[in-house]
Amino acid sequence: MEQITDKLCRYKNYNFGIGFTTADYIDSLQSFEVRDSDIFLVTYPKSGTIWTQQIIISICELGGGLNEYPNNMEQMPWLEYKEGQDYALRPSPRLFTSHLTPALMPLGLKDKKAKIIYVMRNPKDIIVSYYYFSIVCSDLETPKSFEHLYEEYLRGNVAASSWFDHIRAWHSAKDQYNILYLTYEDMILDLKTAVTKICTFLGKNLSEAAIQQVVEKSTFKNMKKDPTANYEFLPEDELKGDFMRKGNIGDWKNHLTAAQSERVDQLLEEKLGDLSLKFIWE
Ligand code: A3P
Repeated sequence: MEQITDKLCRYKNYNFGIGFTTADYIDSLQSFEVRDSDIFLVTYPKSGTIWTQQIIISICELGGGLNEYPNNMEQMPWLEYKEGQDYALRPSPRLFTSHLTPALMPLGLKDKKAKIIYVMRNPKDIIVSYYYFSIVCSDLETPKSFEHLYEEYLRGNVAASSWFDHIRAWHSAKDQYNILYLTYEDMILDLKTAVTKICTFLGKNLSEAAIQQVVEKSTFKNMKKDPTANYEFLPEDELKGDFMRKGNIGDWKNHLTAAQSERVDQLLEEKLGDLSLKFIWE
């Protein structure tokens, strides 16, 4: 891995946090043995990852047969973080989280049996969320200023590299995987419909009351109080603030100038215009 900043290293066109993984481990993921019952949540950082973890875990718990782990991070670990885990020993069903691009994911996913849920969030709100998270998370570079972070983000000089590349790669790969696409904004506007879609995709036939229970466990207010889900279990030297910050759509309006916002619009058109994606900005 090539070190590119104090906190980032680069391997196979992708920026990893330093110390989280190794080139050998990332290579080994190509032949990672995927089980048909595996469920993968894939996102670009700050797109609603821990929220969707809570939804998927709650659905699987109520749907029966999920093994217990002390918190959502252990229940649904990041595939790319090498922490001495032997996932081959985990009982099924296994749940994984990942910020990787398709090129780095296990080839076995292309059998289209294991399920992938991909969540996208509008890039302007991600910049703001990323900015505040970089301030409180010691694994990320402390931003010199909002403007600086904004520039680095547009260049892809951040963990997980370019948001535009991530979106393009995952949307272009849709025929190769068994994949459900969701957006953070749709989840905000109608959580129950999003939960129902995930249930259907996962083949979990939950009652109306059980779906309502999942919705209740996953609201911002309730999740923020849930010690297994709010990531306050991370050590303080790693996270000195909230993972769960505001949880709404449109905070970018309080941070981006008109020119900064327009530049994102232009880049969206240039880089992703042909994909006909719909974004909700407020
Ligand atoms: P904000 O910083 O805009 O508040 P990730 O988990 O991918 O890192 O994303 C974090 C973002 O998701 C944060 O956004 C966080 O507040 C938001 N989030 C987490 N849980 C949520 C929930 N239950 N409802 C709405 N947003 C949530």
